[in-house]
Amino acid sequence: MKLSRYLCAWLAALVFSAAAYALDSTEIRNLVDGLDAPVTLRDGSMVPAVNFDNAATTPAFKAVLSEILEQSKYYASIGRGTGQKSKHTTELYEKYRGDVLAFFNANPDKYAVIYVANTTDGMNRLSMMLLEKPDDLVLTTRMEHHANDLPWRFRGKTIYADVDAMGRLNVEDLERLLIANRGKVKYVTVSAASNATGYINDVHRIAKIAHRHGAKIVVDGAQIASHRKFSITGADPSEDIDYFVFSAHKMYAPFGGGAIIGLKSEFDRIRPVVLGGGNVQVVSDATVAFDNEMPTRHDAGSPNYFGVIAMQKAMELLSRNIGFDYIEQHERILMRKGLDELKGMDDIILYGDSEKIDDRVGILLFNIKGMEAAEVAEELAEMRGIAVRTGAFCSHPYAARLMGISDKELSATGSGAVFPRMIRASFGVYNTEEELDILIATLKEIIARNKTAGN
Ligand code: ALA
Repeated sequence: MKLSRYLCAWLAALVFSAAAYALDSTEIRNLVDGLDAPVTLRDGSMVPAVNFDNAATTPAFKAVLSEILEQSKYYASIGRGTGQKSKHTTELYEKYRGDVLAFFNANPDKYAVIYVANTTDGMNRLSMMLLEKPDDLVLTTRMEHHANDLPWRFRGKTIYADVDAMGRLNVEDLERLLIANRGKVKYVTVSAASNATGYINDVHRIAKIAHRHGAKIVVDGAQIASHRKFSITGADPSEDIDYFVFSAHKMYAPFGGGAIIGLKSEFDRIRPVVLGGGNVQVVSDATVAFDNEMPTRHDAGSPNYFGVIAMQKAMELLSRNIGFDYIEQHERILMRKGLDELKGMDDIILYGDSEKIDDRVGILLFNIKGMEAAEVAEELAEMRGIAVRTGAFCSHPYAARLMGISDKELSATGSGAVFPRMIRASFGVYNTEEELDILIATLKEIIARNKTAGN
């Protein structure tokens, strides 16, 4: 390992080193706000909600909320003002870019941070920044959620690596497309983990392949950031990730934080796509001189300071107080138990690999035979206050593949149209085995009732 790589990993470990002691599950639940807040069921009774929709968004850490309140006392204009408070906010706002880099083990000499509102915002901005011509070729995959498909599809020319019968990304297909398009693919863009099945892609292996064929790699980190320790830096430079985008609202900081981490040299070169005040040196009647360098070059407008404050505090808790070893182990326990229970139940259809789960983050994807997914979800909520997500999870092409629905059926209108609908239960670090028991028991009741009703 070269010295800079070593120093970078060491810095990341120093800034976000895991706690020397482990918290137990009660202490971890206590970190999260609102878990005891009751919701009203159909029969009028009130229970604490059970949230299994963490892949969509997570509740906030209490420490995030108190940090926002504390920093509110010192809030003032960022990067523009002269008072003490303004200096304080500017200092934190800039310092936390370094913390974002450290959290994802990215070398500050090579990478820079552009704060964004969420992954969709980040991917849209990145596609506007990177694509120069409408026929710039982008290789993406059929596993992506729309945020990592449509911005590239509409601003460039896209080709797609497919998934296999189990729904895993077919990396051989990805390489085949790179070979077939000999040096023409500018970017390979792929999710680190799927929001539908939870499959984790080996993005460092994909980076190596992409780089070998002259392409740069963009990684959608929305579903990995709060589930696994993610390193932008690979085992060697050919495995480094070029661009990485993530949202803080899936990391227990739902206040509009997020970032694009990318190659500083490119950010310094590319003309800003979001225009306004804050990232210019001089604007005359006829000319505009943008800031030459990061961090300010792509930072127009008054920033979402509290999104950044919240994101930094959440990263601290995830790394230091909880630790990714715990998160991974905890998710695996929930996944194994959930899948084993579901496998043993009548009328459950499971999607994705339910045997080999070490490359999945905590997501159960299923249907009940003879019932609409939305109907099941409504019953889960009304009978026991359980929140799941149903439908195709803004990943329509992938969901159609998982359910065996053809593209012709998916794109048909009128009576020929078939839309994929599944039920997704996604775990957060605070979910417990007891909550999973409640989900399983309620599903059993729903299935039994459905049978009695003669469906
Ligand atoms: N992409 C988010 C989800 O999976 C919104 O629910």
